[in-house]
Amino acid sequence: MEKMVECCLALIYILLTVASVGLLVVRMVEGRSVRWLVVLMVSGGILSCLVHSYVLKVGLVIVVCGLVHYIGRDEDMLPVLNRAVLITGCDSGLGHDLARCLDAAGMRVFAGVLDESSPGAVELKKASSSKLTVIQLDITNMSQIKQAYQYIQSQTGETGLWGLVNNAGVLGYVCDAELLPIKFYRKYLEVNFIGSVEVTQAFLPLIRQSKGRIISISSMAGEIPLPGFPAYGASKAALSAYSGTIRLELSRWGVKVIVIQPGAFKTNILGNREHWVRVHDEILSGLSPDVMEAYGEEYISSLQERLVKMSSSSSSNTEQFLDALKHALLSTRPKAFYYPGAAAWALPFLYRHSPTFLSDMIFSRIFMPPDVKPAQL
Ligand SMILES: NC(=O)c1ccc[n+]([C@@H]2O[C@H](COP(=O)([O-])OP(=O)(O)OC[C@H]3O[C@@H](n4cnc5c(N)ncnc54)[C@H](OP(=O)(O)O)[C@@H]3O)[C@@H](O)[C@H]2O)c1
Repeated sequence: MEKMVECCLALIYILLTVASVGLLVVRMVEGRSVRWLVVLMVSGGILSCLVHSYVLKVGLVIVVCGLVHYIGRDEDMLPVLNRAVLITGCDSGLGHDLARCLDAAGMRVFAGVLDESSPGAVELKKASSSKLTVIQLDITNMSQIKQAYQYIQSQTGETGLWGLVNNAGVLGYVCDAELLPIKFYRKYLEVNFIGSVEVTQAFLPLIRQSKGRIISISSMAGEIPLPGFPAYGASKAALSAYSGTIRLELSRWGVKVIVIQPGAFKTNILGNREHWVRVHDEILSGLSPDVMEAYGEEYISSLQERLVKMSSSSSSNTEQFLDALKHALLSTRPKAFYYPGAAAWALPFLYRHSPTFLSDMIFSRIFMPPDVKPAQL
């Protein structure tokens, strides 16, 4: 009798092992990521070889299969058919690429642009399918938000809007907090925070209707203190905090709220020479004589070189960002946070898990090069 039980258990063990290897092969053939599944199954296999009891072997394989199934669930994607998404700030950069990518994937895209006649908006109209609509949408202009809402509501009908991507944003200069004119603090907050909140409030009825998703493109500057980004960081911190709150509130409505903290991608976000010169002149003209003396014109002019360096170390390939956004919009189990881009998770991780003196030292080294100092230091 004991022998028979042992034989049955051995058979179950072999069948389960074959089934899990088969599952792995199917996933590989489907082109899905199997990295973690392989690690799990190999370690489960080694462990089960080390134990002699077939009861334990079967138990181990069942646990491994359960874990494989749980991790595998993450990968399931919803069909794109009839899902509509509104993306703000599609004139250029990440929003522009995302609009084209989701259009190519078959989603119904409403691409909000700051200026309908901008080269980016015109190119988007030309290069996309008839399912993509370019919409005039300055997110700081309430009447444009209302018009966009009425249009999208009339187009989506009963289905509602599946996704809202709060992407529009401004940066354009890197500067010590003491030097940055107050009007820039107001502008960053107005666009990066208030504008996104206004668009979110306006479109929430359509998103609740579809039990859809709100995705906000924040920044690591909103989580960690980055020298040179005082106003931008504050505006993104506000956006992240707001998104965290509505993630909890809207979960009761079946709406998912997601924050993206991208790494450095080469877009228009850092501005251009012409813009830098304008901001530089504006900063100089607003400084009191004692602040001017403390920092010195040479240091203030050197800030533009930081922008050049940042731009040259940014990635031109937005694929990781686009993959994260597709997952956030269409996965059955989207994450609350995504960190696409080279090591985008690393600095926030360091900030969260290391003593402040250590992260302060590292961030200062990276973002305040010791060779460039204000005149009186
Ligand atoms: N690129 C990165 O490395 C990076 C990293 C972290 C976070 N982000 C965030 O990612 C988002 C996209 O930025 P990006 O890098 O793609 O920069 P981008 O190329 O400058 O794109 C931002 C877009 O928003 C538009 N915009 C500005 N003000 C607007 C307003 N009031 N209403 C509607 N649209 C407006 C801009 O139009 P104009 O060009 O005409 O001003 C631009 O087309 C931003 O929220 C940014 O903060 C970017």
